[in-house]
Amino acid sequence: MTALPHPLHALLDAIEEAALLVRGERTIAANAAAHRLLGHDIVDRDVRIAVRQPHALRAILAGRQTAQEVTGIAGLGRSWGLLIRPLEDGLLLVRLADRSAIRAAEKMRVDFVANASHELRTPLSTIMGYAETLAENGDLPSHLRQQFGQSIHGEAKRMLRIVSDLMSLSRIEAERFVEPAERVSLGDVARIAAENGRPLAESRGCRIAVEVEADLPEVAGDFAQLLQLADNLVANAVRYGCGGAAEVVELLVRGDGRDVLLSVRDHGDGIAATHVPRLTERFYRVDAARSRDSGGTGLGLAIVKHIVERHRGRLEIASAPGHGTDVQVRLPLPLS
Ligand SMILES: Nc1ncnc2c1ncn2[C@@H]1O[C@H](COP(=O)(O)OP(=O)(O)OP(=O)(O)O)[C@@H](O)[C@H]1O
Ligand SMILES: [Mg+2]
Repeated sequence: MTALPHPLHALLDAIEEAALLVRGERTIAANAAAHRLLGHDIVDRDVRIAVRQPHALRAILAGRQTAQEVTGIAGLGRSWGLLIRPLEDGLLLVRLADRSAIRAAEKMRVDFVANASHELRTPLSTIMGYAETLAENGDLPSHLRQQFGQSIHGEAKRMLRIVSDLMSLSRIEAERFVEPAERVSLGDVARIAAENGRPLAESRGCRIAVEVEADLPEVAGDFAQLLQLADNLVANAVRYGCGGAAEVVELLVRGDGRDVLLSVRDHGDGIAATHVPRLTERFYRVDAARSRDSGGTGLGLAIVKHIVERHRGRLEIASAPGHGTDVQVRLPLPLS
């Protein structure tokens, strides 16, 4: 920074977001965040060197107090709150606050509402169609009435699943900052999840193998949520990765001194790499028709991700197309 009255220096450095002091067309001073964002050689030079975005530049050169949102600084996808405030002696305080995270969260919320509405509307339209046909055709043969009734029941059940999963997701999110307090044996969780998944596995000619390392310490966790997590992973492995030549789903629990690892592995078709990063998005499905046919809502892995986050753990999905999928959950061991 250049020769500025000392208090202004200190003030600028105390501002967390990128901040510049500008006089006329010159950048007089910049704090560390501004240097990181706009470059290191910007002080005592024309302000056009620091700020190249035309709207932002125009606002700065106009020299009036404003607050506006600009994009196109430091990458295309980022949004900035540009705040300009005249000080004394022709000095202008220019701040750039990163709004990208807020905008991304807003977009996620908007997308989520659109997706949830779409997912609910599809079965609802089917229900309405059948109900209308039943109401308007009192003399329908009984086998058709029965068939329509069954379809209505099936679609209503699907809507109930979506709503229950959404409620479950929002409960887990609401508890995000509540540290889980129970002591949970992941070995027990794995064994119960394997039992729960057995009927579905057997119906597909498939077996669930459990291997738990001996004498593993317990983790700090929420038993019901961890079981929900394991149930979801087992259901996925059985539904999408078992049957035909792939006959076994493996549940492994082991420790590495710092974490306890629960891994659910199948030897099915696997998942192409482009899909893997998106699997935990709400309603994301690789093959929507196949998932829907087997009763899936596309919320399972979103629920898993939130449970892992609440437990301060990590979720890793590794998949080799043609060879199978390995979903690994790492939970930290309690300190002590
Ligand atoms: N083990 C796996 N092998 C292959 N594909 C998988 C596997 N696990 C998940 N997937 C893919 O990821 C998608 C998302 O999984 P997720 O569990 O979130 O939803 P779902 O299983 O479709 O529905 P839900 O879990 O709500 O019943 C699935 O639709 C499927 O396409
Ligand atoms: Mg699932």
